[in-house]
Amino acid sequence: MSDTSDRRNAAANIQWGGRFAAGPSVVMQEINASIGFDRKLWRQDIRGSLAHAAMLARIGIITAEDEQAIARGLEGIGQEIDAGRFPFSAELEDIHMNIEARLTERIGEAGKRLHTARSRNDQVATDFRLWVRDAIDGILAQITELMRVLAARAAHHHADPMPGFTHLQTAQPVTFGHHLLAYVEMLERDRGRLADCRKRLNECPLGSAALAGTSFPIDREATAAALGFDRPTANSLDAVSDRDFALEFLSAAAISAMHLSRLSEEIVIWCSAPFAFVRLSDAFTTGSSIMPQKRNPDAAELARAKTGRITGALVALLTVMKGLPLAYAKDTQEDKEPVFDAVEAWTLSLAAVAGMVADMTPDTARMRAMAGSGFATATDLADWLVRVLKLPFREAHHVTGRLVAEAEAKGVDLAGLALADMQRIEPRITQDVFGVLTVDASVASRTSYGGTAPANVAAQAARWLAALA
Ligand code: ARG
Repeated sequence: MSDTSDRRNAAANIQWGGRFAAGPSVVMQEINASIGFDRKLWRQDIRGSLAHAAMLARIGIITAEDEQAIARGLEGIGQEIDAGRFPFSAELEDIHMNIEARLTERIGEAGKRLHTARSRNDQVATDFRLWVRDAIDGILAQITELMRVLAARAAHHHADPMPGFTHLQTAQPVTFGHHLLAYVEMLERDRGRLADCRKRLNECPLGSAALAGTSFPIDREATAAALGFDRPTANSLDAVSDRDFALEFLSAAAISAMHLSRLSEEIVIWCSAPFAFVRLSDAFTTGSSIMPQKRNPDAAELARAKTGRITGALVALLTVMKGLPLAYAKDTQEDKEPVFDAVEAWTLSLAAVAGMVADMTPDTARMRAMAGSGFATATDLADWLVRVLKLPFREAHHVTGRLVAEAEAKGVDLAGLALADMQRIEPRITQDVFGVLTVDASVASRTSYGGTAPANVAAQAARWLAALA
């Protein structure tokens, strides 16, 4: 008998072999095994088992000696995995059975007592919640870092004008700082969604057992508290079958990735030669093998593209879950890869975007020049006609339109029109109008709450920097 079939029989015998005469087919093993990906849960699995064993011992369901042996055994297994010395086996299907079988190999009889009053169904639900919770904490830290980077740059550029766009057509001048802070606001809502998700997922399924709970007098409050959960889940069927915590996490991921993608898209536009608003650092660009002049914003493009995988992960898991009757079904084993993949893509995108934003060099002179092009201060002119000449806004809009047409015909911007030319269109216009036609006057006038006036932007940037410190 080969080593492999030995292990397979051993697996069958240890876990459920009592009822089975033969081992699974190769295809069955392959479709069934999750160890290839769920080994990522090993820390959480050990944490859960330690809490479970400690509780079992406290109640007297296992002895203190057994609990000590289990704790020492699990600690040793953690070291093995950490050091890459753990003998992962596909025959043992998943991380839970791999660790449990190894525990019994190491400590004997006591290892076989660990699975009292629990099932892999509540075990995996617990492990996965712990894993997602850890992921949330990591991502929250990364988002916060990106917000800090953006807010710091915004503070620096609070008074530097750039064109503001609607329809990607020059609309009105804004400040670069204001533009960057728009993303800080989006990211703050992303943080809020993650914090909400964390709060709702923070209930412990452990002790729900296979689906119905257990007849052992377990202390679920104790295991919940030991694992940092706020409380145990209240319905065992829900606890083993629900994955909406993962869906909520992936929805937050998809929305946040969309934000990162929009910022990345802007970076791609900004560093294109026709725009030339920013220059990316060498660290975040690549060259072309054929065109020596190229500096390609690959990191921004990839952060933009990774959104596809993240949104895909959400759709994949929604689809897995949509038809499942209560309670546990093996379908839910397919919950992990989308989440793992989304977290990897999200983490990488956040790091790339933070790196690009921290390193990029804005060409403020170029942005200022472009801010004044395209008749960007036309609204300021219309507002002046309303404020000073008391024209109704619709009429002011019409007069301004004619002035823009005149400037366009003459090939000048609005400030380049002669007063006499303006007066031919609206005789009451005075020299004063030139005071509102500059880009600086335009942004400085936008003092309404949330507007782009440099004083506003400086105050908002300072508020964010203080809040994020
Ligand atoms: N690997 C499984 C999963 O991820 C663990 C639970 C298996 N439970 C069962 N009854 N077969 O869902």
